[in-house]
Amino acid sequence: MESKTIQGYLQKKTILVTGATGFLAMVFLEKILRVQPDVKKVYLLLRAPDINSARDRMHNEIIGKELFKVLREQLGAYFDSFISEKVVAIPGDVSSENLGMKDSKFREEMLNEIQIILNSAATTKFDERYDIALDVNTFGVLHVLSFAKKCLKLEMLLHVSTGQFSVFVCP
Ligand SMILES: NC(=O)c1ccc[n+]([C@@H]2O[C@H](COP(=O)([O-])OP(=O)(O)OC[C@H]3O[C@@H](n4cnc5c(N)ncnc54)[C@H](OP(=O)(O)O)[C@@H]3O)[C@@H](O)[C@H]2O)c1
Repeated sequence: MESKTIQGYLQKKTILVTGATGFLAMVFLEKILRVQPDVKKVYLLLRAPDINSARDRMHNEIIGKELFKVLREQLGAYFDSFISEKVVAIPGDVSSENLGMKDSKFREEMLNEIQIILNSAATTKFDERYDIALDVNTFGVLHVLSFAKKCLKLEMLLHVSTGQFSVFVCP
């Protein structure tokens, strides 16, 4: 697909991103917000005990990074309200069922809205403990897949893993 087409496709879309504190998903988030500011909403699933901690992680480990400098400069005073309007931090964990999201109201809202999922959450340590690697990189994918199946408007699931990049386009 040409970049213009992808840009157009992302307009008014609601996206769920896992692994956004990580290398790949952070770049993905920044690029979407910069090239398609008319995206409807981006949910970020972050490992955190509660919503406030998830928000703190979002600001300290993602939005506050040097990577967002260009967007910050482009939007100037509007940057903070743009981020509050478009980006929502959700506490969760892919290794748990329902992605570890405890707030059922939020979960229902997400299931009704999400059209695209990027699953980039993973443990990337090559010497990770076996049980942790299995929980995140295997069962985590399964949990994302079950969540995706429940999303009423899902159009696309993107799954990134070592040596693999899969795109599932829903009919
Ligand atoms: N980087 C590359 O060049 C590259 C190339 C090819 C393929 N890949 C694949 O792409 C994927 C992402 O790579 P990356 O380099 O972005 O990895 P990364 O920088 O290590 O980031 C991993 C992300 O996953 C999150 N995460 C880990 N366990 C989680 C859990 N249980 N629930 C929710 N989130 C969890 C981490 O969050 P925390 O901050 O909470 O730890 C972090 O945000 C991996 O599968 C990797 O193998 C990467």
